[in-house]
Amino acid sequence: MKRLLSGIKPSGDLNIGGYVGALRQFVKLQEEYEGYFFVPDLHAITVPQDPKELRERSRQIAALYIAAGVDPVKNTIFMQSQVSAHAELGWIMETQAHFGEMSRMTQFKEKSDGKDAVSSALFTYPALMAADILLYQSTHVPVGEDQKQHLELTRDLASRFNNRFGKTFTIPEPVIQEIGARVMGLDDPSSKMSKSNPNKSSYVLLLDKPADIRKKFARAVTDSDMSVRYDWETKPAVSNLIELYAVFSDETIPVIERRYEGQGYGAFKKDLAEVVIAKLTPLQEKYEQLIKSEELDHILQDGARKASHEAQKTLDAAKRAMGLLTY
Ligand code: TYM
Repeated sequence: MKRLLSGIKPSGDLNIGGYVGALRQFVKLQEEYEGYFFVPDLHAITVPQDPKELRERSRQIAALYIAAGVDPVKNTIFMQSQVSAHAELGWIMETQAHFGEMSRMTQFKEKSDGKDAVSSALFTYPALMAADILLYQSTHVPVGEDQKQHLELTRDLASRFNNRFGKTFTIPEPVIQEIGARVMGLDDPSSKMSKSNPNKSSYVLLLDKPADIRKKFARAVTDSDMSVRYDWETKPAVSNLIELYAVFSDETIPVIERRYEGQGYGAFKKDLAEVVIAKLTPLQEKYEQLIKSEELDHILQDGARKASHEAQKTLDAAKRAMGLLTY
């Protein structure tokens, strides 16, 4: 059976970039794979977090998985910190990772740039991410473009370990879709849509109200000529919006281009807001029910039990292979 594993950090409110790049894929792929979807809370604490907010956001992310359509019966949904094998295998992967290759991780460079108090965990983060994936013998990992380098490192570490100590880990494949792998900010098509951008109009949150979604798309930057045409080279801002339109409406890009031919940006941006709202409204309704329910906590408790059982097998195998005692 092919196995899928992925997660979204509870380090800020989830925006449509994470939905389009990752969460939407979880829902689509769950039919063909055995899915493990976790909330990487140990990754979130590599930068300072307020404890109360972290607790709330972690439940929120899990509720959003389910509200978006991840089936909690078919898949295993859990909190990373409740399965201690992650931290343990994370340490083991750190022993295999080279300082040089870790230093080349662009996400670390971006996140540490200009800051003086950077945790050492922010630096070793990709080794923990490798452990997350390898613990479940995952065959496929659906992510956005920005995680590609971490996936390559995971594959390198798994091969290195297997070559040294015998075959222990499955080498995972990233699953990165063509449309929506990198959603850009609504204020600037040269930077990724990100919850850490101080400009709140640069992103749409999954839980934004319709009025805010309309306002944000109305303000979104466009390009100089007035045509709704898909061309990243000369029209990156509009191309970004067209990709969002295509994803949220389940239509193809040529169909969208044809519909707005000769119409300018006004009608296009208005309709874009409506297709996004149409998709998010049922998701938000389901979320509101779930977040108040104990059902969510039961799902997470069950998930942690199942995940711990599965993860322990790989952790023991890795320890034995290296010469660590496991009795
Ligand atoms: P995170 O929490 O930053 O993002 C979660 C997922 O959403 C994707 N994503 C985007 N995709 C397209 N456009 C965007 N603007 C955008 N913003 C975010 C990310 O690529 C990601 O797939 N390190 C990971 C979390 C993690 C993980 C793992 C993922 C920890 N362990 C194991 C997969 C497997 C992260 O920080 O993602």
